[in-house]
Amino acid sequence: MAPTEAASMDKIVALCKRRGFVFQSSEIYGGLASTYDYGHYGVLLKSNVKAEWWRAVVQERDDVVALDAAILMHPRTWEASGHLEGFTDPLVQCLGKCKKRWREDHLREAAITAVGAEGPGEGDGPPLELRCPECGGELSEPRQFNLMFETHMGPVADEGSVVYLRPETAQGIFVNFKNVLQFARKKPPFGIAQVGKAFRNEITPGNFIFRTREFEQMEIEYFVPPDDAPKWHMHWMEERMGWYERLGIRPDGLRLREHGPEELSHYSSATSDIEYQFPMGWSELEGIANRGDFDLTQHQNVSAEKLDYVDTATGERYVPYVIEPSAGADRAMLAFLVDAYDEEEVEGRRRTLLRLNPRLAPVKVAVLPLVNREGMPELARDLYEDLRGRMPAEYDAGGSIGKRYRRQDEIGTPWGVTVDGQTLEDNTVTLRDRDTLDQTRIAIEELAPELERRLAVA
Ligand code: GAP
Repeated sequence: MAPTEAASMDKIVALCKRRGFVFQSSEIYGGLASTYDYGHYGVLLKSNVKAEWWRAVVQERDDVVALDAAILMHPRTWEASGHLEGFTDPLVQCLGKCKKRWREDHLREAAITAVGAEGPGEGDGPPLELRCPECGGELSEPRQFNLMFETHMGPVADEGSVVYLRPETAQGIFVNFKNVLQFARKKPPFGIAQVGKAFRNEITPGNFIFRTREFEQMEIEYFVPPDDAPKWHMHWMEERMGWYERLGIRPDGLRLREHGPEELSHYSSATSDIEYQFPMGWSELEGIANRGDFDLTQHQNVSAEKLDYVDTATGERYVPYVIEPSAGADRAMLAFLVDAYDEEEVEGRRRTLLRLNPRLAPVKVAVLPLVNREGMPELARDLYEDLRGRMPAEYDAGGSIGKRYRRQDEIGTPWGVTVDGQTLEDNTVTLRDRDTLDQTRIAIEELAPELERRLAVA
């Protein structure tokens, strides 16, 4: 079975729980809706996703520098950014039996798709009557609901102490534009990259870690001379599509979709989403927006600090335009999991595996003694201790060799090394490939360089 045909969301959720990647948060208290905790392999996988992002956008370029701004920001930030006024979703509540809350725009989209499939489009007939998808009840009038989480700073919780958990990392970059310009010795075109937590009080979170109220973003704000914005927008769309593909996402599971005028955020003059074919359908993986000079101009107006760039060679002064590739680390991890998930029958036995790119795999190599006697565990343990200084490795001596391999397949370990009877005679081990199941014999002294070589070209 091809990857993704095999992967339903239920299977991904079950594997994540079974192998300790991701599980419900606060489980002993019955769980907290739509919040998740990451276990050992989940932490390693997400941290590899972020490391590959840093590698591609900072290490392998000369024009992007890193930043880590605070989650709590001055409240005027959100006045300038437009979030206080405009970061809202239309909320409707069921007036019938279930009293559930829904996003009106999502219900409308679903209704239009349903009507569209049968014939007349929007505007061709009477206005759509929306009903509660759960119980069919009538719905309230929509009201705008702000998605920012509010908290208080200091000991007194009054109006003057309100601060917000940032709903995007981007604003931490804009307010530091001047700092970075001074210290990083950069001039447009250049970018600032940041990874960090963001919080949104989503009305309808769901689909596992696809949409949660606490998540991590990987964002770049790329500052360019205004006339060059379309060129750089194109550049970043190609770069970011290439990143997902190089890390193993099937090209036919990815597409770029341009936003229609009604869909554009308040700051954007053009946005394209990179979408992935998740089990629930094509959905946004990353947005790549041309934000124009909206943010710097707004912060300039509200803070009264000059946030323009002066070209010392030409004397030209301008507020740079911003191209913003904005990705979710959790959502990217989910896409990599879905794309890598596979099931197959091998010699009458079913196996589940994650065909993760070795760079993303939480563990690169597992070292297994064939049996727990005749000096094999000691030799395998020595080999493991040598390997783990070079790459994430695991030693596993518990249970039958078949069971141990199945466990490693499920966590996506690309290579397995077995120490067996022959090892004691000639210092060679079996090297097993997760995807092809090919087994080759290799001398112990050649093993680490061979794995490093494979990792470097993955
Ligand atoms: N600064 C622009 C911005 O935040 P966005 O489209 O709202 O744009 C960017 O978010 C990315 O962040 C999305 O493409 C998605 O990957 C991720 N993201 C947004 N909301 C999320 C949520 N509730 N849960 C998980 N990831 C989310």
